[in-house]
Amino acid sequence: MRTTTVIQTPATPGKRKTASDDFYNDVVKGLTAPQKYLDPKYFYDAAGDQLFQQIMQCHEYYLTGCEMEILSDQSATIAAALEKYAGTFDVVELGAGDATKSIRLLQQLHTNGIDYTYFPIDISGNVIRQLETTLPVKLPQLQLRGLNGEYFDMLQLVNGYSTKKKVLLFMGANIGNFNMATARSFCQQLRQYLQPGDLLLTGFDLKKHPQIILNAYNDSAGITRAFNFNLLQRINRELQADFNLSKFEHFPTYDPGTGACKSYLVSLEQQAVHIGTDVSITFRENEALYMEISQKYTPEETDQLAAQTGFKPVARFFDSKKWFVDCLWKCI
Ligand code: AVJ
Repeated sequence: MRTTTVIQTPATPGKRKTASDDFYNDVVKGLTAPQKYLDPKYFYDAAGDQLFQQIMQCHEYYLTGCEMEILSDQSATIAAALEKYAGTFDVVELGAGDATKSIRLLQQLHTNGIDYTYFPIDISGNVIRQLETTLPVKLPQLQLRGLNGEYFDMLQLVNGYSTKKKVLLFMGANIGNFNMATARSFCQQLRQYLQPGDLLLTGFDLKKHPQIILNAYNDSAGITRAFNFNLLQRINRELQADFNLSKFEHFPTYDPGTGACKSYLVSLEQQAVHIGTDVSITFRENEALYMEISQKYTPEETDQLAAQTGFKPVARFFDSKKWFVDCLWKCI
């Protein structure tokens, strides 16, 4: 993962670093880099969560439907594989979101009489609060402990709470938010929080016709566009900035050679954007602000990623179109 450089903020001696300091530092760091960028993890405030819900319902955004099909049709097979390779375990989910997909698997584990605790982890406090109210209604037997924070901090906490083997779920193609090199270091780091014999189930969006992929990030209703712009609005609101949204254009791209699907916001004119009272950022006309990567894989590339990061691929679960795969890896 990216290391954070702490940028000098008007220092209040002895003051604790807060989430909003991190947000400020990361935003200023990204907007002062030669290639301006924002970290996609900041998309997910309350409005961003809602927009992402809408994206998942867009007909162009096929990923959710594909993975939902895998979880609805194959949860018995997946649960059997988890039992076969791990025996007894607790379930941890990174980026749990609304858990509509994993709920199928959780239900199946109950049906199979497995006694486990579910630890959903999410960067959005909003999401964790919602899960803690909705899940006990849907799955009354569920032992649940929601964790709101950064993945690795929360995994550290889980290791304190649970001594069982871990089945770690990382679904929804969230791994796509890393480029391939960063995905490698991410998986290596993940491996360090796990023990030999623990399992990791990761969702990958697969390479397919490039137009299908591009359309998924350029929906005709403009929801993905609004999702991107929402981050500028969040910066305006939370960091007292003055992005003028009408001076930017949403520009999604897909490179079928590398499998990198990248979204940009392009500045339509030379302009200055202010953050608080002491930061001014200039954009050249047509300068691109890099918002997000959604990396696409081949099945072989997912195996290579496992081999490079301390895992052994043990099973793959595809949807009927083979557009998406959930890969089960065992820690070696
Ligand atoms: C949540 C990272 C899987 O990359 O497909 C959807 C986010 N961004 N549309 C993805 C997203 C624009 C999504 N992930």
